[in-house]
Amino acid sequence: MTDALIIGGGSGMGLALARTLLAEQMDVTIAGRSADRLAAARAELAPAAGGRVRTVRADIGREEDVAELFDHLGSVEHVVVTAADVTGAYGRSADISASAARSVLDVKLLGAWLVGKYAAGRVTGSLTYTSGINAYRPNGSNTIVAAANGALASLASGLALELAPVRVNVVSPGWVDTPVWDRLGMDKRAAFADLAGRLPARRIGTADDMAQAFLSVLRNGFVNGTVLHVDGGHRLV
Ligand SMILES: NC(=O)c1ccc[n+]([C@@H]2O[C@H](COP(=O)([O-])OP(=O)(O)OC[C@H]3O[C@@H](n4cnc5c(N)ncnc54)[C@H](OP(=O)(O)O)[C@@H]3O)[C@@H](O)[C@H]2O)c1
Repeated sequence: MTDALIIGGGSGMGLALARTLLAEQMDVTIAGRSADRLAAARAELAPAAGGRVRTVRADIGREEDVAELFDHLGSVEHVVVTAADVTGAYGRSADISASAARSVLDVKLLGAWLVGKYAAGRVTGSLTYTSGINAYRPNGSNTIVAAANGALASLASGLALELAPVRVNVVSPGWVDTPVWDRLGMDKRAAFADLAGRLPARRIGTADDMAQAFLSVLRNGFVNGTVLHVDGGHRLV
């Protein structure tokens, strides 16, 4: 039994959530694909958390990995999915390969569904997915990622009925300064400065902003079948 499983918790907002939950004295299991990323996360977290942090290699896009992950854990109170791999998926649809588009859907949407499938009878408290602002503010160069993110709201609604009384929700981040931006090959400082000037919050989000949002969804037993927008007001501009 583990208190919380964070799939994608080896970096970014998932790692910030792991730090937050460990500070709340919870037992946390982090899952991801890269052994190096998991080892680095463990090296950072273990000195303060000791035996309360575990890591497991799993690719959420592979059904056998998701099944094994839940077999390995037995029962778990809260699951948060932050996993996404959007390699090759940004640009105009005419320039995106079908295999890059499929990879996004395999991880972000079907992977999320697989977690819901194997959560039945194993997850006791809540299941929270991570979508994103581009579902609500697509920009013409992120269509397939936006579609996957948008579909998570419907997935959560359906699973909230199927898995009741387990609560199923989505957190939708705006732009958040995490390692994913370093892999996009763009001038992130300039893009952040430009957006921060236009956002009502007047700043870009932090991984800790997101960790606090996930924590509030985990803790509030009446939040169910909904999308929590944590985007500094991005949908308003
Ligand atoms: N940062 C933003 O501005 C922003 C905005 C809107 C939405 N989001 C969403 O927020 C979520 C978290 O992103 P982040 O910014 O924290 O990025 P991140 O640091 O890149 O974290 C994503 C994590 O997912 C893991 N992952 C990727 N594919 C996986 C798979 N198939 N199975 C298991 N784990 C997998 C990665 O580790 P491995 O590669 O080792 O597997 C990585 O640790 C994502 O869903 C992203 O789409 C982010």
